[in-house]
Amino acid sequence: MAVTTRRKPTRAEIRKERMQMAINYPLDWVEERSGLVGGIRYFLFRKVPSDTNWMQTLGSATLTAFLVQVITGVILAMYYKPTPGDAYGSIQNITDQVTLGWLVRGMHRWGASVFIILMFLHMGRVFLFGAYKYPRELNWIVGVLILVMGMMEGFTGYLLPWDQTAYWATVVGINLNGTAPIAGPWLAQFLRGGQEIGADTLTRFYSMHMLLIPGAIIGLITLHLYLVIRLGVTSPPWSKEAAGMERAAATNGNLRPGLTRPATRGSAGRDSD
Ligand code: HEM
Repeated sequence: MAVTTRRKPTRAEIRKERMQMAINYPLDWVEERSGLVGGIRYFLFRKVPSDTNWMQTLGSATLTAFLVQVITGVILAMYYKPTPGDAYGSIQNITDQVTLGWLVRGMHRWGASVFIILMFLHMGRVFLFGAYKYPRELNWIVGVLILVMGMMEGFTGYLLPWDQTAYWATVVGINLNGTAPIAGPWLAQFLRGGQEIGADTLTRFYSMHMLLIPGAIIGLITLHLYLVIRLGVTSPPWSKEAAGMERAAATNGNLRPGLTRPATRGSAGRDSD
């Protein structure tokens, strides 16, 4: 019978093993108590169609632009003062005095346009790929809500520098809203916070711009990404598995529309029950 002698581990091997244990311990601790590590691993390493292409990175690019807005916005909020007497001066202070304030402000101002443009490009990609079709209609609707919120974010942010351009652009925007049937006058009154644009308008625009709307966008993006992961990414239109092919498979030809079994990508039509 052969005798196997175990080699003594070298010091480098012992060090490597200790390092692995030190990294794994907190990860295992969190995983055992929440399942979060497994969830993140699934998110990062889930299967996507092999013919996925660069156009499908526009959603992540939009997400990156949004995160830049959040980070630069938080920094600006540390110096900005939302009162008619101080607003313009505080913006000048950010631009001229605060270290790298000009850069942060510039990134936030130009980043707003980048965010909106990327959102439209992403939406265009989804439309051209037919990725709004079954079963992703709900995610399209969530996307439309994000788009509306994104535009409201731009509108409310534009007033904050409290200069002539900001003031008169807001007058035009509020008056346009005021011409809408039925809800128009109420909406204009709500946005102004009174009969005229003034201190109350500025504080409510600031509150909407930095709390209400970003909060709503973050909630909607979470839902949007949950649906992306649940339903899977679509293949391009030239693929055999292009968007819209799932319905036939999911209904198996004998279920009423709307009563189809919710099927994630790849499981469509599989008769498991
Ligand atoms: C803050 C804005 C948005 C973010 C961060 C975002 C993010 C994403 C990401 C990361 C994906 C997966 C990768 C990709 O397909 O690019 C995705 C997919 C999708 N998005 Fe968006 N999105 C946003 C806005 C919108 C808008 C405005 C619409 C349409 C009105 C939309 C509709 C969809 C749909 C239907 C999918 C599924 C596409 C597929 O499965 O191929 N999204 N989104």
